[in-house]
Amino acid sequence: TTQKKTFRIGFSQRTQADTWRKTMLESMNRELSFSPDVEFIVKDAQGQSNKQVQQIQELIDQEIDLLIVSPNAAQPITPIVEKVYQQGIPVIVVDRRTASDQYTAYVGANNVEVGRTAGVYARALLKSAGNVVEIGESPGSSADNDRHRGFVDAIRPFPGIRLVKKLEGDWDKRSFAAELTRLLTTTPAIQLIFAQNDRTALKAHAVCKQLGLEGRVKIIGVDGLPGANEGIDLVNRGILDATVLYPTGGKEAVRTALAILQKQPFRRENRLPITLIDSSNVRIMKLQNEKVIEQQADIEKQSQRINDLTRTYASQKNTLYITLGS
Ligand code: FRU
Repeated sequence: TTQKKTFRIGFSQRTQADTWRKTMLESMNRELSFSPDVEFIVKDAQGQSNKQVQQIQELIDQEIDLLIVSPNAAQPITPIVEKVYQQGIPVIVVDRRTASDQYTAYVGANNVEVGRTAGVYARALLKSAGNVVEIGESPGSSADNDRHRGFVDAIRPFPGIRLVKKLEGDWDKRSFAAELTRLLTTTPAIQLIFAQNDRTALKAHAVCKQLGLEGRVKIIGVDGLPGANEGIDLVNRGILDATVLYPTGGKEAVRTALAILQKQPFRRENRLPITLIDSSNVRIMKLQNEKVIEQQADIEKQSQRINDLTRTYASQKNTLYITLGS
């Protein structure tokens, strides 16, 4: 449309390659569809910190009114985000953090709590004794650091539980399969894998299956997305023992952005709740999600109708004007 935009929001995303990030963007766009006066510029850093720094500079040059950023890694992205903030451009950090408190608002769940929740569940699965492999997130991200810290905190009081090794996640095409195979086929025997996201958990499961260890090695993931082969489905099918639902915060980030731009009150720290999903609640989670998806489809249909009506009205107004003016 040709409507003049009132606000320009820039969104610097660490990657757009996975479903969790796609879900975040979808929920942002859905929320933004109610604010047609906002121009939304999305930059995809493809998992590269240097690219993300460059793209945030581009957003500054494009004179954005507000920045939303989900940092690939904490340290490398900190100086440029501080620069944005010091220029008086509001900054909303979503999900992963920078290493600085120079931001206007934060939206996301507590990743230490994510790790701790997984650790507490691991304790129960292992009955307080067993050997564990952890598979992390992209190195240097606050998600990776905090989830690890929370997990270790939860198992530390139990000397029978041993974290044998923490592997790097399957990022930037580096595979952990060979290393995991080695760990699963040597001593000590591994009883549990904590994978810091469900995609990684599914890959770990494939390795276990290939070695004939399916079901013998317990697996806990993170994310808990709806959809085939995502966390809820994987728990439902018994492929994962549990996952920690980690909300994307897309909608909340946009709401906070609009509040800031419209000079409305907003909270600086917006902590989103997490939920453990296992066999005891996975059915209800699945049903709830199906309901939400149905409702979203209805909303989309209705907003399409409103758009059509608005267009018809505009063209009728035009016709009327032409008729009266002639
Ligand atoms: C951590 C994380 C994961 C997710 C991944 C996607 O910040 O949110 O939970 O799967 O990043 O890039």
